[in-house]
Amino acid sequence: MGIQPVIKIENLKKVYKLGAERVNALAGVSLEIKKGEICFLVGTSGSGKSTLLNMIAGLEKPTSGTVVMNGTHIEKMSERKLAVFRQKNLGFVFQSYNLLPTMTAAENVAMPLMFSGTKPSVREKAAKKMLTAVGLEKRMRHRPTQMSG
Ligand SMILES: Nc1ncnc2c1ncn2[C@@H]1O[C@H](COP(=O)(O)OP(=O)(O)OP(=O)(O)O)[C@@H](O)[C@H]1O
Ligand SMILES: [Mg+2]
Repeated sequence: MGIQPVIKIENLKKVYKLGAERVNALAGVSLEIKKGEICFLVGTSGSGKSTLLNMIAGLEKPTSGTVVMNGTHIEKMSERKLAVFRQKNLGFVFQSYNLLPTMTAAENVAMPLMFSGTKPSVREKAAKKMLTAVGLEKRMRHRPTQMSG
């Protein structure tokens, strides 16, 4: 028996309806990604890369097809369950940061731990460790607009 895929997608379709017009953003995508694999998604503008990533991340619902993450079907999960699933299983680095402008770097990094019920002292420690790991220990009290991209 081979290694079970971490991400398994079958015949994924997404149709956007714009008035009378239908846009076939995904026309039946199937793929498997195994633990430890690094994947690149390449395609011309409008080919459906962002659409596919949004489906894999559980941020958007497919029109049909299945998305299985670590053995769990997420294509029909409720928003409430998806929010918990994303927190436990997914990391997403957005192209347009999506940082909260009124919070410092440390507060932004620590925020997801707040929703998982981690206590403040542990959150602060974890955020400090992560920012230090990427060379940002001197920017922990800066807000997003006070930092480079
Ligand atoms: N919310 C939406 N409503 C309607 N059509 C959409 C929506 N989002 C994407 N599309 C359409 O779906 C198709 C795929 O778009 P998508 O954004 O996934 O492409 P992309 O590969 O990420 O492109 P880019 O390289 O420019 O980021 C395009 O034709 C796009 O216009
Ligand atoms: Mg895109």
